Amino acid sequence: PLGGVAFDLDGVLTDTARAHFRAWKRLADSLGIPFDEAANEALKGVDRMGSLALILGDRPGFDAERRGALAAGKNRWYLEEIDSFGPSDLFPGAREALESCRAAGLAVTLASASRNAPLLLRKLGIEAMFDIVVDPAAVANGKPAPDIFLAAAAAVGVAPPAMLGIEDSAAGVTAIHAADMAALGIGPPGSLPDADRLIPSIADFRLADYAGAA
Ligand code: G6P
Ligand code: MG
Repeated sequence: PLGGVAFDLDGVLTDTARAHFRAWKRLADSLGIPFDEAANEALKGVDRMGSLALILGDRPGFDAERRGALAAGKNRWYLEEIDSFGPSDLFPGAREALESCRAAGLAVTLASASRNAPLLLRKLGIEAMFDIVVDPAAVANGKPAPDIFLAAAAAVGVAPPAMLGIEDSAAGVTAIHAADMAALGIGPPGSLPDADRLIPSIADFRLADYAGAA
């Protein structure tokens, strides 16, 4: 039976996937590097420095110091994007999804790669709904590695096969499966082909649809 759920944050519970895209686009434009929404798909779920590495590719002249400055600049633009975020920026159905998991007695965990996740949870008013928020800085390897999902399961003492991971990114779905969990994808039809099940948005989440759910 299902014992816990590991939620991704950006693009699952709130529309920050757009905010990350706009901040990366601003950075790429400032460097004259082509970047569009298709290229952005590969960045979803990938941590800050990993995303920057994907944008820069093998272009020369970007040492660690310059990369650090560029990543810090992107984060300032991102923080501008989410400055006015509040509870109304939760996706429709997000709060209800979290509440239904809690009401069923499931462990509710957050497995987001974002260093900004605690800030965002406070802004959205949902920080109290999680039993544990994994600190991405404390795991060795980012998505698509399973580390953050394994850390979520370990923190609440639930065996990974009894966990459901919920993700909007391909890297995240790969990470969930690598952790030996079931993967619920959030996205339009045809996206995330590796997900065990795909729903268009968190508003379509019904706990009873998941095998063994309470
Ligand atoms: C999430 C987003 C990514 C973002 C990553 C790191 O996984 O999907 O787009 O790059 O978090 O976010 P951060 O807020 O730490 O830069
Ligand atoms: Mg995401």
